[in-house]
Amino acid sequence: MNYVEIVNNALEEFLPKGDDVVSQAMRYSVRNGGKRIRPVLVLEFCKVCGGDPMLALPYACALEMIHTYSLIHDDLPCMDDDDFRRGKPSCHVAFGEANALLAGDGLLTLAFETAAKSTLSADKTVKAVSQLAKAAGVCGMIGGQVMDLENEGKSVGVDVLEKTDALKTGELIRVACVLGCISAGADDEKIKNAESYAKDIGLAFQIVDDILDVTGDEKALGKPIGSDADNDKSTYVSALGLDGSTKKVDFLTERAKEALKSFDGDTAFLCDFADKMAKRKS
Ligand code: IPE
Ligand code: IPE
Ligand code: MG
Ligand code: MG
Ligand code: MG
Repeated sequence: MNYVEIVNNALEEFLPKGDDVVSQAMRYSVRNGGKRIRPVLVLEFCKVCGGDPMLALPYACALEMIHTYSLIHDDLPCMDDDDFRRGKPSCHVAFGEANALLAGDGLLTLAFETAAKSTLSADKTVKAVSQLAKAAGVCGMIGGQVMDLENEGKSVGVDVLEKTDALKTGELIRVACVLGCISAGADDEKIKNAESYAKDIGLAFQIVDDILDVTGDEKALGKPIGSDADNDKSTYVSALGLDGSTKKVDFLTERAKEALKSFDGDTAFLCDFADKMAKRKS
């Protein structure tokens, strides 16, 4: 089994089994289509730092639940108002706005219940849960979403975009790498190096997302293109153009790979991962 299959199986175990509409909506949004890049990073960083990736699965699944909740809320009419996600009608289109809001809330709370199920030491789990909460919160992903909304209709500079993207997208990617390190009991030095890699691939990831919103194929992406322009969003493409954005992605990807040199373990997977993320079409 590859990482994505392992994560998908574990997610099935943790998802609610009920027939109620919100449990159905939670399963609907988590299943199928997601690339699972954040949980894969958790598992691989755990491995590179000498831990057993299988033991990191509750943290990895918790993070994917938080990411999925962020997408459900991001698609709502009051946010980006997008009707398609992961190749299917968005949660609010399939289940209605109120149920989508609650499904997002349900996934956010289930994430912490799931992380708490870890069989790793209580010390590691407290660290993991606190990192997860911080990365997802107002000083993390939510803070970035706030900035993203504030930037709408303005021509903001690259410095503001960098801050916005470091929070709205970067924080969940950063915490993925950190959770892997925590699972393996890695020291602060390793965590710092993992964060350097994460920050660069995280920003590159959002820039590619902005590029694909202009040049992408809706079918491959599983979500609408042109959403940023429709919402008058400030993005890297609006600030630097397509060429400038692509160059920035290449620069960040190379620098991310440099940061891996400080790890003793085999980092070939993570190098390749950074390259694949930069070249992705979905
Ligand atoms: C989409 O994330 C939202 C951004 C942070 C750009 P992904 O591209 O990882 O979405 P899924 O999980 O594969 O659907
Ligand atoms: C979303 O960024 C980031 C979060 C959900 C936190 P985008 O709004 O660009 O993501 P997509 O393009 O809808 O996937
Ligand atoms: Mg958005
Ligand atoms: Mg969006
Ligand atoms: Mg986008």
